[in-house]
Amino acid sequence: MTLTETGTATTLLEATGLHRSFHLPRRALLRPPPIRHAVRAVSLSLTEGTRLGIVGESGSGKSTLLRLLLALDRPDSGTVRYRGRPVTGRELTWFRREVQVVLQDPLNSLDPRSIVRDSIAEPLECLRIPGDHDARVAELLIAVGLEPDAAQRYPHEFSGGQRQRIAIARALAPRPRVLVADEPFSALDATVRGQIIEVVRDLVSRFGLSLILVSHDIGVVQQLCDELLVLKDGAVVEQGPTESVLTTPQHPYTRALLDAVPALPPVGGR
Ligand SMILES: Nc1ncnc2c1ncn2[C@@H]1O[C@H](COP(=O)(O)OP(=O)(O)O)[C@@H](O)[C@H]1O
Ligand SMILES: [Mg+2]
Repeated sequence: MTLTETGTATTLLEATGLHRSFHLPRRALLRPPPIRHAVRAVSLSLTEGTRLGIVGESGSGKSTLLRLLLALDRPDSGTVRYRGRPVTGRELTWFRREVQVVLQDPLNSLDPRSIVRDSIAEPLECLRIPGDHDARVAELLIAVGLEPDAAQRYPHEFSGGQRQRIAIARALAPRPRVLVADEPFSALDATVRGQIIEVVRDLVSRFGLSLILVSHDIGVVQQLCDELLVLKDGAVVEQGPTESVLTTPQHPYTRALLDAVPALPPVGGR
């Protein structure tokens, strides 16, 4: 955690009072269409060096909240600030350099017709980041545990776990300060999942990144995150240091999520 001169930790992302609702298809001609409140009055703050886990069952609003935090979607009300500045307009390019995302399915961020080199270098080109992009791609491939010659191959030549490593390399390319990940391990089988969790843990600590990790699996969050936020029906029901939330959950919903995990590995375990 980086401390400012006043001794307080630097706040990176800060969300205040976020709301996002969706109109669902009209069920009856004369009735207004039903509204789904996907995110309700969510406030959070990510200080530098923190690894924040967002958990909740499917449909609890996790992905919608991430899209708002990433400025990929606009809230009905509420604000998102990064380093104190609203994330809109001219600030967006700067924000995209600083905050990068990894999704559940790596194929969503890798173009099947492009060689890996081009997929990893794309954010560097889009964000007009100068430097030797080939060298940067090689360095990133090594950082995620792949051979540099992977650069010349296509996504379909790799396994699911290797593709997620490539997607992580792409996210890290612009040297972000914050990594945001939406269920990055849930499409992987158990053994590979453990390896990719280790890759993320290692890179986050090696590059001093802050992390926002979304998962329906509280066990995964326990292994990687020091703070935890529990979402239910779009609202925050619990928030605090991971250990205290998990050892003394205050809300019955958090207890139910914990009960759904068969056997929790020890903190810091595999
Ligand atoms: N574009 C959309 N249109 C209508 N409803 C949506 C849309 N996106 C999300 N929702 C609804 O909002 C709720 C939260 O969805 P989501 O954020 O994807 O949850 P999670 O990621 O936790 O599974 C769900 O009920 C979902 O059906
Ligand atoms: Mg989701």
